[in-house]
Amino acid sequence: MPSGLASRASAVLEIDLGAIVGNSRLLSEKAAPAVCAAVVKADGYGLGATRVAAALHHAGCRRFYIATLDEGIALRTALGPAPEIAVFNGPLPGTSGEFAAARLIPVLNEPGQIDGWERAATAAPAIVHADTGLNRLGLSPAELAALAPRLRALTPRLMIGHLACADEPEHGHNTLQRERFLTARGHLPGVAAGLAASSGIFLGPQYHFDEVRPGAALYGVNPCPGRPNPMRPVVRLTAKILQLRQIDSGESVGYGAAHVMGEPGMLATAAIGYADGWPRSLSHRGCGWIAGKRVPLLGRVSMDLATFDVSAAEPAALYPGSAIELIGEHHGVDDVARDAGTIGYEILTSFGSRFHRVYREPAT
Ligand SMILES: Cc1ncc(COP(=O)(O)O)c(C=O)c1O
Repeated sequence: MPSGLASRASAVLEIDLGAIVGNSRLLSEKAAPAVCAAVVKADGYGLGATRVAAALHHAGCRRFYIATLDEGIALRTALGPAPEIAVFNGPLPGTSGEFAAARLIPVLNEPGQIDGWERAATAAPAIVHADTGLNRLGLSPAELAALAPRLRALTPRLMIGHLACADEPEHGHNTLQRERFLTARGHLPGVAAGLAASSGIFLGPQYHFDEVRPGAALYGVNPCPGRPNPMRPVVRLTAKILQLRQIDSGESVGYGAAHVMGEPGMLATAAIGYADGWPRSLSHRGCGWIAGKRVPLLGRVSMDLATFDVSAAEPAALYPGSAIELIGEHHGVDDVARDAGTIGYEILTSFGSRFHRVYREPAT
């Protein structure tokens, strides 16, 4: 970051594109011979779809998944004509023509989307989504059976399914969904198939089929909860200290006077709040790190600010403008999510627009 920006930045989000590419390689090796696509919806899980997809495309990724038509058009504009871009939500009524114009591959989830795609009368490829027990998007087994002849006539590029419990390897729903997926495939013989997202890749080769499509694991979220994280960390988040104050026992901290000091301490107020995606649910529970020392978050997180008890930190590291590490080597994105009572996906996709973003390019 240029030095002017470095001094102006209230909070800095560092995004390691090399780690994302490394994670994609690790997942590709795990899933081989299945091909590894990349899910970059929700602006690349909050990290910047354009930058993430460009790095992965350069590294050889040939198919990207996003959720909406607008995301697809933006990514097509950024990446140019080469990569395949598939849209999970499929076409809303009347939008099939826009899909074709931007060379987006619709995921056809329900009978009306199939009608619309047929009416668009395009030779462009589509992906068929079989719902095998998530009961969210996708054709039910009965719909798939009834529509199979028309679907075969569309010569789909791929059939996908999506697992509900892939992060729980022992869950019986995984085998049930796999069996239903095998039945669904029988309706479209010769069509390639993909069932696994991040966690599904770690369920074993019987879940890999022809393509896997990870999202969260690319961004460093642990696809194997409860076990060591095989992925490289991708983000580091720091916020600057704005003010320091020595405070007496019995004084309260923040809105609602919700934290009362049990003993005297040193407080640091840092430039990060829930408007930045630092969840309010971290009130009384979150923490930061200063030169390897844990500093607990005190009281409530407010819109732009959070207050930490920095009594344990080296005094030399405490001055306005010095940084508190909020996500990093001591405390990863899954740790923050656990503190906040949520999942890493929500932490990443909630990041606000005020962070100064620093991208670390992959080594060439
Ligand atoms: C249909 C579908 N496939 C793949 C993914 C990627 O999942 P993950 O981020 O767990 O890898 C998602 C994400 O929600 C999804 O909805």
